[in-house]
Amino acid sequence: MRALPLALLGLTLAACDTSPGATDRAFQASGEIIAMGGGAGGPANACFACHGLKGEGDGVSTPRLAGLEQGYLQKQMEDYASGLRPDDVMTRVARGLTPDARRVVAAWYAGLPAPAVHASAGPPPPIWLSGDAARGITACAACHGAEGQGAGAGQPIIAGQPAPYTLEQIDRWKSGKRRNDPRGVMAAAVQHLSEEEARAIAEWLSTRPAAQAHANASASASVSASAAARPAASRETRRPDRSDGA
Ligand code: HEC
Ligand code: HEC
Repeated sequence: MRALPLALLGLTLAACDTSPGATDRAFQASGEIIAMGGGAGGPANACFACHGLKGEGDGVSTPRLAGLEQGYLQKQMEDYASGLRPDDVMTRVARGLTPDARRVVAAWYAGLPAPAVHASAGPPPPIWLSGDAARGITACAACHGAEGQGAGAGQPIIAGQPAPYTLEQIDRWKSGKRRNDPRGVMAAAVQHLSEEEARAIAEWLSTRPAAQAHANASASASVSASAAARPAASRETRRPDRSDGA
């Protein structure tokens, strides 16, 4: 008597399950194919050759992609392609992909686990948490989180990136070569940062645990837990700041 309803239930579940599952798998598969094969741009553009088999980066000038926010990754691909973020390598790579291909490869990397970083317990440089009102420097932590873990909605995770990569980005914002920051927030934030301060921030960030984007519930929970564990720093850094004219 029970066998029939159970069998029917099984069929219903299978019917509900396979079709979205198959779509997800196809989507994931095409992201992986681009990551491993370079997409229409061919094998010279294969992401893994530079960004590592697990999207972990090369520890020097090539950033990790694994576990970053999908929207951020996709936006960077669009900005490389349009020239708002010009780069000798990445502009060519991004232009070799259709907008759809840029989206699926971004989703693929966002879904990979963030790499393990050998974190040290060093405190952040003071300027990271407090900025310097006298020089018009906004606290980096206000937008990037106390640990560089990001703040959602396009405020990217910058923890766990190689120091030379981070320094290079700060230089590009300063010189105006990278101009893809909404309302010029990054250009303003680093304009008056000294070379020593930039270096100290980049070194410290490279030792922070490589946070995972918020899509991962347990990562968000641990981000909240670490925010709760540092109430003083959080209060300081969440001070509303209007220096971007918002
Ligand atoms: C020949 C080496 C090389 C290849 C191939 C390559 N990249 Fe990159 N990628 C780099 C370098 C170097 C940078 C840093 C460039 C900069 O300073 O803007 C970078 C930066 C990026 C960034 C910016 C990350 C951030 O945190 O802002 C994204 C996204 C990215 N690459 C995605 C890809 C994808 C997707 C592919 C494959 C379709 C790919 N890359 C192929 C070398 C490469
Ligand atoms: C008002 C908000 C805000 C403040 C303050 C701010 N940032 Fe940013 N930062 C952003 C946004 C938004 C982006 C992403 C722009 C884009 O879409 O590429 C970014 C990007 C970056 C990147 C590039 C990340 C990558 O993967 O390429 C670095 C490095 C960075 N910020 C460092 C800093 C440092 C250091 C400070 C403090 C001196 C700082 N930021 C202050 C909003 C901010």
